[in-house]
Amino acid sequence: MAQGSAVQPQKGTESGAPPLHVDTTAKWFLLSSISYFFIVGIIALTIAAKFVWPELLGTVPYFSYGRLRPLHVNGMLFGWLLACDMGISYYIVPRLCGVKLWSEKLGVATAVLWNIIILGAVVALMGGYNHGFEYAELPTPLEILVVVAWVMYGVNIFGTIATRKYTQMYVSIWYIMGTVLWTTFVYPTGNFAVDFTTGVNQANLNWMFVHNAVGLIFTPIGLGIAYYFIPKSSNTPLFSHRLSMIGFWSLAFVYVWTGAHHMIHGPISQWLQTIAITFSVMLLIPVWAVVYNFFATMKGQWHQLRENVPLKFLMSGTVFYLLTCFQGPMHSLRSVNAIVSKTDWIPGHAHMALLGCFSFFAIAATYYIVPRMWNTRLHSDALANWSFWCMILGGLGFFTTLWLGGFWQGWQWNNPAIPFIDTVKALKPVWLVRFFSGTLIFSGIVMFAYNVMATVIGRREYAQ
Ligand code: HEM
Repeated sequence: MAQGSAVQPQKGTESGAPPLHVDTTAKWFLLSSISYFFIVGIIALTIAAKFVWPELLGTVPYFSYGRLRPLHVNGMLFGWLLACDMGISYYIVPRLCGVKLWSEKLGVATAVLWNIIILGAVVALMGGYNHGFEYAELPTPLEILVVVAWVMYGVNIFGTIATRKYTQMYVSIWYIMGTVLWTTFVYPTGNFAVDFTTGVNQANLNWMFVHNAVGLIFTPIGLGIAYYFIPKSSNTPLFSHRLSMIGFWSLAFVYVWTGAHHMIHGPISQWLQTIAITFSVMLLIPVWAVVYNFFATMKGQWHQLRENVPLKFLMSGTVFYLLTCFQGPMHSLRSVNAIVSKTDWIPGHAHMALLGCFSFFAIAATYYIVPRMWNTRLHSDALANWSFWCMILGGLGFFTTLWLGGFWQGWQWNNPAIPFIDTVKALKPVWLVRFFSGTLIFSGIVMFAYNVMATVIGRREYAQ
């Protein structure tokens, strides 16, 4: 089996390269996304607090749960995570291709447009303008702008790849190309096509979007990032390029068919449910291929976890990826689904994927590239380590209480003798723990954001 690719990243590839890579676009995306991570973190804590103290912020419509929740979801997904991932891809694609970014001007224009969209989303969602579909809450004009920005992003990424000097394409490039292409059909499906359907078909289309937003947008770009930074941070070649390709193509084939598992026991045909379940279980193939590759790359390198903060985030993100993607197939099974579906189990699952896995990958990459892009040293390694421990301990508290609480909630819902309101009251301790775990996660976000900003503003000596 081929042990790695000829063009896989090696430490120091970019040394001596500053004139080639100016990284203006990457910097814009990174700094703005980190600011949103902090701001939306405050919204996150507010909605978590509202579960425990529902009268918090009174009856002011702008601060009602119904407006702040979509703001949190969209802010974290598009303001923080996707924007940060895009910034990181503007950094890694030119380096893996051995050329400059196709157009920094276009990149900066994309970053400006992206910020306009996010700020527009804040105003619109707080003002109560909501498209009304999960993960597709933005009003239509903003959704159109997202499409425009995405085309600009895609042109730049494909333009860079088309002019590449290295002929062989490292797996991260495959994943990033996949993200660009898949998003161009996943996003319009969830945001525009839903308006032309009704009833069950509409719900089915929306779930197809929701699941593929995670599976075909955040997953491939997140994995592309991890594939680049695990070998980079550990200074070790990737275990197997061929295995990485098996993971990529099986993900491409399997993911798109799983959306209907959100409607199991719902008003859709049994055969559609069975197909969704079958493909959900088949997801174990790409997941195990990826995770095995990452673990095998780390063979003999685990001792580096003691000191290396990016690697700590990357490897715990990998473990969370494994757990999330074990949970997913399991709760698509009819018997398990009958208990956990629509309960607090699901936000527990969603946060493990988007925070525990993909945000951890993005944070690791940011810690790695910010000092290199600004030609300096990280402001504080100790603070970076603290941010890791706050986020992992807060994350574990958050996920496990929601799983336990969600399972308990589902069990109560299945018991007709228990009045619904009692099932709500029973969950209060769970939500209290979530709030305090969220506070710990938020402390980690503050440390991360402060560390990055202090690195950029108060630059120290050259990093490498
Ligand atoms: C300080 C950390 C965070 C806290 C306290 C928090 C809190 C919450 C709360 C209270 C909800 C509503 C859950 C419900 O309706 O039952 C929620 C939903 C959600 N959050 Fe967060 N969150 C945090 C970080 C994040 C991050 C970093 C991401 C993504 C990058 C994220 C993505 C989401 C998503 C996608 C949902 C919707 C989940 C679903 O519909 O099942 N959150 N969050």
